Amino acid sequence: MDIENRYQHLPSPVMPKVPPQKLLLGQKALVTGASSGIGRAIAVALADAGADVVINYSSGEEKARILVAELAERGARAIAVRADVGDESQVEAMFRRTIDEFGTVDIVVNNAGLQQDAPFHEMTLAQWNRVMNVNLTGQFLCSRAAVREFRRRGVRPEVSCSAGKILCISSVHEVIPWAGHVNYAASKGGVMLMMKSIAQEVAPYRIRVNSICPGAIRTPINMEAWDTPKAYGELMKLIPYKRIGEADEIGRAAVWLASDYADYVHGISLFVDGGMTLYPGFETGG
Ligand code: BGC
Repeated sequence: MDIENRYQHLPSPVMPKVPPQKLLLGQKALVTGASSGIGRAIAVALADAGADVVINYSSGEEKARILVAELAERGARAIAVRADVGDESQVEAMFRRTIDEFGTVDIVVNNAGLQQDAPFHEMTLAQWNRVMNVNLTGQFLCSRAAVREFRRRGVRPEVSCSAGKILCISSVHEVIPWAGHVNYAASKGGVMLMMKSIAQEVAPYRIRVNSICPGAIRTPINMEAWDTPKAYGELMKLIPYKRIGEADEIGRAAVWLASDYADYVHGISLFVDGGMTLYPGFETGG
C-alpha cells in the first residue's frame, strides 16, 4: 500500500472521555446557523465549556428545539431564536432577545452560511445575491450588533479578560479559488478582509475578532464529496492528512479561540483543514 493510502481507513479520532474544561464558564454565546452541521457542533462545544447559548436558526425549527433540550440536559441554558442573518431588522431583534434573556452576549459565532453552486456562465444574480447576503452581509450585521453590545458593556474581568469575542466561520475558500462556486469563494474572501478590518478597528476596545477556516468537514453541505468510497477517495487527493474532518473538531477550535487561553490571538484565520491549504498537488509535482 502506498504511503498516501496507508491510513485512509482509520476513523476520525474519538476524543478521550475527560470532562470538558469549563473554559467559558459564565459567558453568553450566540451561534448563527446552529441547528445543524458545524454550527450545531460549535453550540454543543461552547455549552460543554460552560457557556449559555443562543441557537439561531432560519428554517430548522424542530432541530433547533431538540438541540435546546439536549443542551439543557448537559447543564447549559439555551434558547432558540429564529432570524435570517441577512435581514437587518431580524438580526437586531435577535440581539435584543438575547440581551433580554441573558443580560448580555460575550461570544458571537458567525456560522450561518450556504452554497448555491453553478457554472459561472449560468450563475444567476439571485444565486449570487443569496450567497452574499447570508455568508457576508449576515456576518457584517451580526458582527456590528455584537460590537455595539461589547462596547456598551466593556470588560467584565470576572468572566473574561476581553470585552467580547467574534468568531467568523470562513472556509479554506477564503484563499483557495473554487471553480463552480464563484459566489461562495467570493463571499469567504470577503469575510477574510472584513474580519481583519474589524479586528484592526475594534482591538482598542478589547474586542477580539478571528476566523476559523474549516476544510472538508463531514456535514450535509458537502455530502456529495464524501458519501461514496469513490468520492471519498477523490477528496483525499486534496487532503494531505488523509481523512475528512468532523464537526466537533471545529467546535473544539472555537472553544479555544473564544477562551482567554487565546487572549492574545487577534485577527487571524485559523485553518482547521488537515493541510488542504498546503497545495497538495505539490506533494509529488512541481
Ligand atoms: C465548503 C465544503 C467543501 C470545503 C472544502 C467548505 O467551505 O462548504 O462544501 O467541501 O469547503 O472544499
